[in-house]
Amino acid sequence: MASGGVIRGWGTALPEKVLTNDDLSAMMDTNDEWITERTGIKRRHIGGTTSSLSIESARKALAMSGLPLESIDGLVLSTTTPDRTVPATSASVQDALGLRCGAFDLNAACSGFVYAYVVAHGLLAIGAKRLLVIGTDTLSRITDWSDRGTAILFADGSGACVVEAVDNGGQLLGWDIDADGSLERLLYADVGGYIHMDGKEVFRRAVRIMVDSAQKSLAKAGVSTDDVALCVPHQANARIIDAACRQLGIPLERTAVVLHETGNTSSASIPLALFDAADRGRLRNGDLVLMVGFGAGMTAASAVIEWRQP
Ligand code: COA
Repeated sequence: MASGGVIRGWGTALPEKVLTNDDLSAMMDTNDEWITERTGIKRRHIGGTTSSLSIESARKALAMSGLPLESIDGLVLSTTTPDRTVPATSASVQDALGLRCGAFDLNAACSGFVYAYVVAHGLLAIGAKRLLVIGTDTLSRITDWSDRGTAILFADGSGACVVEAVDNGGQLLGWDIDADGSLERLLYADVGGYIHMDGKEVFRRAVRIMVDSAQKSLAKAGVSTDDVALCVPHQANARIIDAACRQLGIPLERTAVVLHETGNTSSASIPLALFDAADRGRLRNGDLVLMVGFGAGMTAASAVIEWRQP
């Protein structure tokens, strides 16, 4: 499949303020042992706005790409927590970065970054050349800090990359996007309201949804899990990641996990894990990477990409 783009530069951003499990224990009836055992999360970063975090990660991505600002012809910001209802937060980000290009927000909850990456390839296929793809969420703003069922999970962060068109096919080998709106009630926040979640049911479905989506992308790419050098799952819960990877047959040594440090940052989750792996030198040219996410909606998205850096 010729999909025509490669990642040229990337960047991430986390708010300075850190909230540990012990900090949470002082706020509500919970404890470090329970949170660690049930989720794998040890601490998370809280603060900032969706635009400020996006600007920080995108500046790093643009600088790393070495590409001139005027060559960027589109900005896709995946977020579930825009700064305002109108205009899209991408407008503020575009202005602060000094870009002049098409800019829009996309909301597919925690599957959002992979959705945005796939949508960017759609734009490349019809002539766009260089796109900024950002995944940012500030879930702390819509988290009820007295609800121990959700407050232990959610946090803030951002990850961004520049995707550039290339002539001879791109790095995207297979992809899948999906949604089942009938499951909306399992995880939602009304306008101006907090996140409500049926944790057990989300957990149960998440594993199946991730495995299904990953298998579809792998089949489209014509590869198997044995060919995957690194799996980058949505960073929601270590037990969900363990179960999904076990079913897929991908050992944890080939899985990117940062959630102990970040919590669940929704749209930022997969880029934070992917670019952490890249920054640590875990990826070599030619490696196949499987990104796979799930989230409210209930959405799912996955992509098999071949890691390529000049
Ligand atoms: N601290 C301490 N105890 C807690 C607690 C907390 N934060 N939350 C719940 N408990 C208690 C419950 O009251 C219950 O006690 P009981 O047995 O005496 O009734 C017990 O722990 C088990 O609760 P339960 O809700 O069954 O826990 P769980 O194993 O399902 O874990 C989640 C809860 C939220 C961690 C888990 O369901 C989950 O991660 N779900 C997926 C959520 C998700 O990923 N959402 C984002 C999707 S993008």
